[in-house]
Amino acid sequence: MEFVQQLKASVDIVRVIGEYVRLRKASGNRLQGLCPFHNEKTPSFSVYVDIQAYKCFGCGATGDVIKFVEQIENLSFYEALKSLAEQFSIPMPKRAEYSDPESKLRGSLYDMNELALQLFRAGYRSQAAAQAREYVARRGLTPELVEQFGLGFSDPTGQALTRKLRAEGFSAEQIEASGLARKREDGGFYDYFRGRLIFPIHSESGKVVAFAGRTLRDEEPKYLNSPQTKIYHKSDVLYNLNRARNSIRKVEHSILVEGYMDVIGVFSAGVEQVVASCGTALTSSQVRSLKRHSDRIVVNFDPDRAGAAAAERSIQMFLDEGMHVRVLELEGGLDPDEYVKENGADVYRRKVETASNFFHWLADRARKKFDVSSAEGRMQGFQLLLPAIQRIPDKLERLAVVNDVAAYLRVDPGAVLDQFRKAAAERKPVAVRKQTISAVPKAEKILIQKMLRDSEACAAALPQVAELPNLGRLAAGRIFEAIVTAASQGEAIEFSRIEGRLDDTTKALLHDIAFADDIDGSGESVQDALNCLKTLEDSDLEAQRAEMRARVREAERSGNLQEALRWTKELQKMSASTR
Ligand code: UTP
Ligand code: MN
Repeated sequence: MEFVQQLKASVDIVRVIGEYVRLRKASGNRLQGLCPFHNEKTPSFSVYVDIQAYKCFGCGATGDVIKFVEQIENLSFYEALKSLAEQFSIPMPKRAEYSDPESKLRGSLYDMNELALQLFRAGYRSQAAAQAREYVARRGLTPELVEQFGLGFSDPTGQALTRKLRAEGFSAEQIEASGLARKREDGGFYDYFRGRLIFPIHSESGKVVAFAGRTLRDEEPKYLNSPQTKIYHKSDVLYNLNRARNSIRKVEHSILVEGYMDVIGVFSAGVEQVVASCGTALTSSQVRSLKRHSDRIVVNFDPDRAGAAAAERSIQMFLDEGMHVRVLELEGGLDPDEYVKENGADVYRRKVETASNFFHWLADRARKKFDVSSAEGRMQGFQLLLPAIQRIPDKLERLAVVNDVAAYLRVDPGAVLDQFRKAAAERKPVAVRKQTISAVPKAEKILIQKMLRDSEACAAALPQVAELPNLGRLAAGRIFEAIVTAASQGEAIEFSRIEGRLDDTTKALLHDIAFADDIDGSGESVQDALNCLKTLEDSDLEAQRAEMRARVREAERSGNLQEALRWTKELQKMSASTR
């Protein structure tokens, strides 16, 4: 394969990896950084300039530039090759050996998304889009921003895209797999997005993988998001990360906002390190893709109740991953987009710079809630912070925060440490508790053992495991995620390979499960275990639903009908997405 050699010779591995990992010079021909493939605090990931290779001494990940792109972007070998060739404008020979059916299908999905983008953008300039342009102007977006973010408009009659894809020779299967069209009873197709303002969603490397469409009328849903496809894993993608990542590394923090419009509004203020999740709750996988660029984050959600709830959930995820969190609350009940419009870029930028550390922000809230003029009140205030402090995975960091917060709230550090030890003894931090084998349900253990030991059982179970909507929330979720990712990259599911993909604590958990001989699963089939898993997921979903129902009741009680309605809608959305 001489093309592979040629490509590797003309691509600089440092430049490629440097886009995903903060690298620092370690010696003459070695650079160093935090490994993007497992969780670590001290860098054990090295890139060697002279041999154009990387290796992590923590998790064992190693390879050349192509392997790196495969691993980090979840691509097959052929796709990684193609992606690099495109990025560096190296003409690539069309050869059968590069294409298996799976890569071919994924390739066609990228092509269809590209065509859709062109069509949407052309549509934006058409007569039918007058209302969309008016709306965009009203929201204060300049033509340059429209251009930069690739905003478009989808044909209101729902035919243009389907017709175009057909004309370009894509098959019914391909069109269906793209999520860009929906099948009718009679077998024909109609466009998924109709008469909506379109926001393209890119992968980290800048490929269009999905779209979001905002309605211009009073219609549900307000934002329609592309369904999950072979190239769009909702839980991995962050809106705008492709444009934000260089800034994130430069200014050494990222900003998380709630909506597409917030991203564009904040970005237009020259604050480019901004991202949002695409209509789903934040996942640990998204958190980790931010952490690769900087471990500092500013959370800036909408000022309403839903925003506060979402902020709280995502802050917990950031803490679990050992990130440093600051909270930006904007006055006047404005969301980030509105705030920038109203107060200007400079004011917003200063707000970001001075956003307070999450623990101080919590302490301020505690101050308002308790009478901090008494020692007892201050102690009660401190208790409010304890659960969050306990989520900090690193022990030293945790103690530092305890001391800092104690000083901030002016409580006696001795008494606080005492409290802290007591609480720590009673309640282990969640991140750690999640990782012990006793907390892993039997169904998960049986399934993992079977998948690692029996390749046939593994092949049978994989598609169903990959389909589980809440995989990451399972007790051994990270192990399942590693298995699914490995499989999607065409790797054999072997113990050592899966192990290589895990951080140290999860690795220990994998060892415990894989080598345990007291998990008696001999009488159970893979299907039994899968059924159990589904039950587990259902009960998790049920818990989430119950929480939302409680919110609805609470809002109703306090007479806030709008809020109640909002949660009811959330609830419906959730039932719809999981059916
Ligand atoms: P918001 O309802 O706050 O929308 O939802 P917004 O960002 O303020 O939108 P504009 O300014 O009215 O246009 C915030 C985010 O939640 C997701 C979208 O990602 C949206 O940007 N969302 C919201 C959906 O995915 N679907 C919906 O129906 C609504
Ligand atoms: Mn909003």
